[in-house]
Amino acid sequence: MIDSSCDFATAPWLDLPASALGAAADIPTMLSMEEQKLYYWLAAHAVSGAGAFVDLGAFAGGSTARLAAGLTAAGLATAIHAYDRFTMAPHQQRKYLADCGLAPLEGRDSLPAVRRLLAPWGERIALHKCDIAAETWRDGPIELLVVDAAKSAELADVIAERFMTALLPGGFLVQQDFLHAPQPWLPAQMELLAGHFEPVAHAAPTTMVFRCISPPVTPPRLSGRADEDILGLVAAAAERYREWGLAGRIENAAARLRRFPGARDARLLRGRPPRART
Ligand SMILES: C[S@@+](CC[C@H](N)C(=O)[O-])C[C@H]1O[C@@H](n2cnc3c(N)ncnc32)[C@H](O)[C@@H]1O
Repeated sequence: MIDSSCDFATAPWLDLPASALGAAADIPTMLSMEEQKLYYWLAAHAVSGAGAFVDLGAFAGGSTARLAAGLTAAGLATAIHAYDRFTMAPHQQRKYLADCGLAPLEGRDSLPAVRRLLAPWGERIALHKCDIAAETWRDGPIELLVVDAAKSAELADVIAERFMTALLPGGFLVQQDFLHAPQPWLPAQMELLAGHFEPVAHAAPTTMVFRCISPPVTPPRLSGRADEDILGLVAAAAERYREWGLAGRIENAAARLRRFPGARDARLLRGRPPRART
C-alpha cells in the first residue's frame, strides 16, 4: 500500500540534513540541493514498493543515486531503471567527473563511469543506454517516474504514451523541467493530463511532483498542436499554479514560445525572453 498519509504540505524534505543523502551526495548531479532532498525523501517516505522506479535522463547517475539511497533507507528492494544516452561531451566530463576519482573516459561513452559510480547500490539499478524515443516500458507497474529528458514536445508525447501509462494510481510523476522556460510543452502537457495527475510538491528551481490519480490510457498529444493551443494550455497552467506562487515562471515559458514561434525543441527556445512592455 502506498502511504497516503505522507505529508507533502509541510515539505518535510527541506528539514533533512544534507548528510541524510550519505554516499549519494558524492554522485555528480545537475539537481539543486532542494531537489536532491526531495528525490531522496520520495523514495524513503512516500512510496510503498508496489512498482518500479524509472529515471528518464540519468546523466551521471546523480538522480538515480538519490533515489537508491532513499529506497535503501526505507528498506525497499524496488528496482530502479535509469535511461540515458550515457554520453558526455568533454566539457561535461571536466565539470562533472573531474572529482570522482575515475579514469578519464574513452571518448564520450559515460556508461562504464556511471556504472562504477552507482556500484554501491548494486543490482537494484538497471542502466539502459538508449535513445528514449525508441523505448517502450514493458516491465510492469511504475510507482515513481522521473522525467528529465522531455527536451522536445515529441519526446514528451513518447514518455506519456510509453511510460506514464504504466504508473500506478497513487504513484508519482516527477517533472524535473516543469518550470524550465525553454520547455513550455511541459505545463501544457500536465494541463492536458490534469484529470490524471494532481500536483503535490514543488522543489526549486524547476521540479514539480504529481500524484497519479489514474494512469492515462491514451494520453492527449502535444505534437501537431498550434502555438495558440499550447499557449492557451500554458495560460491555464499559470492560473492553476498561481496559488503556488509559480504563475510568473509559467508565463515565462509562454513568453519563450511567443519569441520562438513553432519551436518544439528546448535547444531552439534558449535565449532571452522578450522584454515586457510597460
Ligand atoms: C538534465 S540531464 C539529467 C540530469 C540528471 N537527472 C541529474 O541528476 O543530474 C538530461 C539528460 O537527459 C538525457 N536525454 C535527453 N534526451 C534523451 C533521449 N532522447 N534519450 C536518452 N537520453 C536523453 C541526456 O543525455 C541528459 O543526460
